[in-house]
Amino acid sequence: MRVEHIGLATLCLGKWQDVPNLPRPAAIITDPPYGQKLKTNSGVRSPRPRPGRSGILKPRAIPYPEGIIGDDKPFDPSSILCLSDIVLLWGAHKFADRLPQGQFLCWDKIPTGTRRDQGDGEAAWINAPGRPMRIFRHLWNGICTGAGYETKNEFSHNTSAQRRVHPTQKPVDLMAWCIEQARVPSGGLILDPYMGGGSTGIAAVRAGHPFIGVECEPQYFDAACRRIEKAQTQLRAA
Ligand SMILES: C[S@@+](CC[C@H](N)C(=O)[O-])C[C@H]1O[C@@H](n2cnc3c(N)ncnc32)[C@H](O)[C@@H]1O
Repeated sequence: MRVEHIGLATLCLGKWQDVPNLPRPAAIITDPPYGQKLKTNSGVRSPRPRPGRSGILKPRAIPYPEGIIGDDKPFDPSSILCLSDIVLLWGAHKFADRLPQGQFLCWDKIPTGTRRDQGDGEAAWINAPGRPMRIFRHLWNGICTGAGYETKNEFSHNTSAQRRVHPTQKPVDLMAWCIEQARVPSGGLILDPYMGGGSTGIAAVRAGHPFIGVECEPQYFDAACRRIEKAQTQLRAA
């Protein structure tokens, strides 16, 4: 199994079930595939170079792989729930009937109030019954994103330019908020067994947490390595 050590982060390419000696983390914060059967590369143009305004050939965006591994069937949270004392799962509105007592968190993707075809928000679940429900408001609609989203150059506060590395990528600010909501002890290890493009990892290392991320799709794994390395380089330079 390929394993990359990048500062506070240890990133594994493969299925998390196959990672040997996975330590028990202080918290699992993750966004598993849950049976959306999302068509990930529909409408993506060919990766052939195209001329830019200057006439110089510019590479096209790399298309996503077809489908998300595991997204063809409903998610069973039971194998994850026993791995840590603190567990926070995105997509929980899709598998709420398989979760024990806990609390929901909500991401309002359209604080402007406009309705979205794909739904106006998403729910996460945390194994903390009795806590108040909380809402995170962060614009996420096509090319419009809220502050703190990663662009081609750096973590930008623009609301337009963006570069997604994963079709269901979560904003880093949202994952930073999740770490706060989960009340992860200072310096506690955070595990994301369904890492995707690494948004949880960026939020974790920025908050000073050691992080283990596991991703089985090489394209997303490589993107996560790049993004988490860049985040830590920026932290050191600041
Ligand atoms: C919903 S996406 C996570 C997206 C992530 N939140 C982000 O911001 O990019 C779930 C990811 O889990 C990966 N995956 C599916 N089954 C896995 C497994 N058993 N072990 C590790 N990764 C897995 C998929 O390839 C996919 O990239």
